[in-house]
Amino acid sequence: MKLGVEVHGFDPQSISDGALRALRESIYVDKLVILKGQRLSPRDFVALGRRLGTPEAYYEPMYRHPEENEIFVSGNVAASSGPVGVPKTGQFWHADYQFMPRPFGITLIHPRILPRHNRGTYFIDMGQAHGRLPAELRRAVVGTRCLHTVRNYFKIRPSDVYRPVIEVLREIDERTPVVRHPTTFIHPVTGETVLYLSEGFTIGIEDGSGAALDEDLLRALLAESGQLDHTFEHEGIHWQTYDDDDLIMWDNRSLVHRAVHTSTPEPAVSHRVTVHDDHPFYAADTLAPATDRAPVAAARVAAGRD
Ligand SMILES: [Fe+2]
Repeated sequence: MKLGVEVHGFDPQSISDGALRALRESIYVDKLVILKGQRLSPRDFVALGRRLGTPEAYYEPMYRHPEENEIFVSGNVAASSGPVGVPKTGQFWHADYQFMPRPFGITLIHPRILPRHNRGTYFIDMGQAHGRLPAELRRAVVGTRCLHTVRNYFKIRPSDVYRPVIEVLREIDERTPVVRHPTTFIHPVTGETVLYLSEGFTIGIEDGSGAALDEDLLRALLAESGQLDHTFEHEGIHWQTYDDDDLIMWDNRSLVHRAVHTSTPEPAVSHRVTVHDDHPFYAADTLAPATDRAPVAAARVAAGRD
């Protein structure tokens, strides 16, 4: 599947507010935007994030950049003072902060040291995945909610060594209790219906009254979306490779992603900034009992671009 647009000649220092608005709209409509030829310092990267929304520092300090707290570092290169960031993050299908009450609207990634091999990310457009669902599955999810947790992918911290596992699990459940989001929601900008679940973070599905639904339903939804295809040949999967000096931005409401990390002992470092935008995470009428909605606003946004 082909997804996203490339932007050449973007200058974050001189971009006008109007051009920035167009960029933001492109993130929502095209869902994946690759800015070519960027080489931003950590400070400038956060400043760009700040023009798109309100950056939030990752809740676990071990991921944070030592000088710019709002940068999440995925990498295997240590500084003289010790490790910086965490290696091999996100190697499972997920949306960023899906396990939190208020996930991020937009994710920005700026690879700083790219390995020679396996330099990319898999994406699935979950708006399109909803559109591909068989009619009976679309009907089955109306009014349901999914349960999400970081529990299965929480990375043990250096300070957890010698702690009983049960104590660590209790801490995870206290700090990040299971959250519920609608299984489908209406994108507040494009009006598209998004299927909001992932293999990594979604652990259950329940009906509108809170009664658990058969896990086969969740499994069927994940399978239809492509997230259970370990060959990565499903029609909904997009493989995005990176060049040096790329800066990648995506709509974290619509896309799930899965990192691929080098299996060789090469250095690799990637910076991430995640921002809350001005919109609620899902539109207020998301829970209205409608099975299908035309993405009216998508056409409006697209028509309004110049
Ligand atoms: Fe991620």
